[in-house]
Amino acid sequence: MPENTEKNLAYAFAAESKAAVRNDAFAKKAESDGYPQIARLFRAIADAESVHARRYLRLMRGKIGSTEENIETAFQNEIKANVEEYPKLIKDASDGGRRAYRMPSPSPATWKAAMPSFTKRP
Ligand SMILES: [Fe+2]
Repeated sequence: MPENTEKNLAYAFAAESKAAVRNDAFAKKAESDGYPQIARLFRAIADAESVHARRYLRLMRGKIGSTEENIETAFQNEIKANVEEYPKLIKDASDGGRRAYRMPSPSPATWKAAMPSFTKRP
């Protein structure tokens, strides 16, 4: 696959993923503001954006592996975010005089500890 196409797919995947999360947040806000029909509309849009994001992800060859590979990928992504990326963002915010903190997320050790309890359906 041409490099430009890979970059465009990654961009589209990120954009659709963000749209899905954003519209889901809008749905929650509409619900709490007392607009259940508008909340349903935003949820439907969020679901559609998730479908679009998954389509792009499937087109990004090698991004969805076996479940075992996906667990390892998820571990590595969490480790990278928590060890390399977020500390830099937090430092930048602190340097700029802003308060910043790391979002709580399960540590890779927590995930790995839970692994033996997973069983594969026969
Ligand atoms: Fe979309």
